[in-house]
Amino acid sequence: MTVQIDHALEEIRRFRPSPEFAAQAVADDGLYEAAKADRVGFWADRARELLTWEKPFTRTLDWSNPPFAKWFDDGELNVAVNCLDRHVEAGLGDRVAIHFEGEPGDSRDITYAELTDEVKRAANVLEGLGVGEGDRVAIYLPMIPEAVVSMLAVARIGAIHSVVFGGFSSDSLASRIDDAEAKLVITADGGYRKGRVFPLKPTVDEAISKSAGSVEKVLVVKRTGNEVGVEAGRDVWWHDTVAGASGEHAPKAFGAEHPLFILYTSGTTGKPKGVVHSSGGYLTQAAFTHKNVFDLHPETDVYWCTADVGWITGHSYVVYGPLANAATQVLYEGTPDTPHPGRWWEIVEKYKVSILYTAPTAIRSFMKLGRQIPHQFNLRSLRLLGSVGEPINPEAWIWYRHVIGGGSIPVVDTWWQTETGAIMISALPGITDLKPGSAQVPIPGISIDILSDDGTPVEGEDGGLLVITEPWPSMLRGIWGDPERFKETYWEKFGDKYFAGDGARRDEDGDIWLLGRVDDVMNVSGHRLSTAEIESSLVAHPWTAEAAVVGATDETTGQAVVAFVILKQSQAEAAQADTAAASEELRKHVATQIGAIARPRQVFIVNELPKTRSGKIMRRLLRDLAEGRQIGDTTTLADTSIMQIISEQVK
Ligand code: WTA
Repeated sequence: MTVQIDHALEEIRRFRPSPEFAAQAVADDGLYEAAKADRVGFWADRARELLTWEKPFTRTLDWSNPPFAKWFDDGELNVAVNCLDRHVEAGLGDRVAIHFEGEPGDSRDITYAELTDEVKRAANVLEGLGVGEGDRVAIYLPMIPEAVVSMLAVARIGAIHSVVFGGFSSDSLASRIDDAEAKLVITADGGYRKGRVFPLKPTVDEAISKSAGSVEKVLVVKRTGNEVGVEAGRDVWWHDTVAGASGEHAPKAFGAEHPLFILYTSGTTGKPKGVVHSSGGYLTQAAFTHKNVFDLHPETDVYWCTADVGWITGHSYVVYGPLANAATQVLYEGTPDTPHPGRWWEIVEKYKVSILYTAPTAIRSFMKLGRQIPHQFNLRSLRLLGSVGEPINPEAWIWYRHVIGGGSIPVVDTWWQTETGAIMISALPGITDLKPGSAQVPIPGISIDILSDDGTPVEGEDGGLLVITEPWPSMLRGIWGDPERFKETYWEKFGDKYFAGDGARRDEDGDIWLLGRVDDVMNVSGHRLSTAEIESSLVAHPWTAEAAVVGATDETTGQAVVAFVILKQSQAEAAQADTAAASEELRKHVATQIGAIARPRQVFIVNELPKTRSGKIMRRLLRDLAEGRQIGDTTTLADTSIMQIISEQVK
C-alpha cells in the first residue's frame, strides 16, 4: 500500500510493509520495547541468543572509563567457531556457505563443512609460520574464498587481521603494514578485474621493500597463474601448505574484548586511522543486524552483499554477520559489467539471490544503463534489497525497488561507519513503514541524537550533527596505537557522545535523513577518502607547489575528487604550455601513490588558491566552482578578486 503525504518542500512517500512480508518477518516490535526497557540487558540477551560462548560472561557493559568501553568482557569465545564449527556440529555441514563466482566464469560451491575444514588447515599453516595470539596479519587478496578463509583462520588463532583493499597502492599497503607491524602478509599472484589479470604479488614485494621490516613471511594464493617472483625463505604458496596441512585444529577461546581486526580508514588528516574492533561485542551486533535488518531466513535465503572484504561492509556483511548466522551467500570476484553489463543480474538469476545489499553508486550506474538490462534476467527470487555507503536519493531508491525488486519488496537504507562496526540506523523490514531517501530510525538498542554545534539537542524538525549518545557493542575500541587520536577525533567535540562526522536532519515523523560528511572526508562511490591525504600526495609530486582538493557532487559516484594545483615556478612554464598533460600526470601520480579509487576526476592547474587573511584555503568556494555553481560569499578572502581569476583559468 502506498501512502502519499504532502510535505512543505518535497514529496515524501511512505510504503507500508505488505501483510505477507510482515507475517513472516524475523524482526518484531518487541525488540524496540525490550531495548527501551533495558538497553544493556537487551544486548546481553542478544549476545547469549546469537553467539556460543566458551565461558559465559557475567558483566555486560563497563563504561567506567569512557570513551573506552568493554562489553561482555569476562566472557570468552572463538569467533571462527561461532562462524563455522558450531554450525557443522548443529548438522548444517552440508549447507552451502559460499557460492563463489569468479569473474572469468569459474564457480564453486563451498559448504560449511568444507569451509570449516579449510579454515582449520589454514590456521595450522599460520601457526606453523610463527603467527600467534595478538600478532597482526595483513591480507591483500581479491574477492576469492581464500580471503574469507584467511580472515577466519587469523581469528581462529587469536591473531588480528588487517585487510587492505586490493586496489590500494604499494605505498598505502606499506604504511598499513608498518602501522600495524604485520608479521605475515597473505596475498595472491593476482585477481581478475574487468576481464584482465591485475597483479597483487609485485605490489606486496614493493610494499615490503619500502616498509620497516616487520614482515617475516608471505603466503601466496595461486589465483590467476601469472608469473610472480618467489623469495626463498620468505614466500610460501597457499596450495603447497594449506592443502597438505592437518584438518584437525583445536580452537582456543579468547576474551570478548580481544581485538579481532584493524581496518584502516580515511580521516580528516593525511594519515589513515587503524580502527580496532573487538570479538564478542562486534560479532553480537554484526549477527543481530544481519539477521533482523535483512530479515534472514538462513534455511531458504540466498544472500549477496556486493562489497569487497577490503571495506567494513565486507567484514561485517560478507564475513562475520552472514557466517555467524549460518547464511548461504554469493561471493563474486569481479566488476558489475564484465563481460557484459547484465553480469550482476545474471548472478542473481543463477543463484536465485533473495537478499541483495549494495551501494547507491552502483544503483545509479545501472539506472543510467536502463532497465532493459536487468529485465533480461529473472529477478523474481529477490525479496529484500539493502543500500549502504552514502545517502540514497529517493529516485534511485524507487528505481531499485521497482526495476530490480519488481515494485513491492522492502528496500532498507542502512547508515553506519567503519567505526560503528555494524548497522546503526535502518528500518526493520516488515515492521517499519519505508520512506525513500531516509535511513529512518536507530535499530533497537542504539541511541542516536542530532545536536547543534554547541551541543544542545535539536528539537523537532531540524538539522544538525549526528551523535551516538550511548556505547554500543560493536563500537570501535580505539585507533591502533593512538588512544589520543581516538579521543580527539570522536569524543572531544561533545564529551561523552560519539561524534560521527555526519550532518543529519529529523523530519516531522522523527525519521533521520543523512546529509553527508561535515568534515574533510569525501565519499566517492561509497568509499571514504580524505581531502588531506590526496592533497599531501599531490604536494609530494616534484612539480606541485600547493594543492587543494574538494569533493564535488557527481551524478554517479555521489562525490568526485577535484583538485586545484599550483605548479612550482621551475615547472610552471613548461607545464603551462601543456596543462592537460600536467594534470594527467598528477592524476596518475595520485592513483599510483594511494590507489586508483583516489584518482581525481579533474586536476585544474591554477596560479592562485582562494585564501582567507589567515591563510586558510576556502574549499567551499572551490567546491562551488567545481560544481559549476554561482561562487558563494568571497568577502573573507584576502583578495576578493581571486575567484574571478581562478574561474577564468579553470575555463
Ligand atoms: C556515509 C560504510 C548516508 C556516512 C559502512 C558515513 C551513509 C560514512 C550511509 C562511513 C547511508 C554510510 N546514508 N550516508 N545509508 N552509509 N554513509 O566508514 O557519511 O566506509 O560517515 O562505512 O559513509 O563510511 P565507511
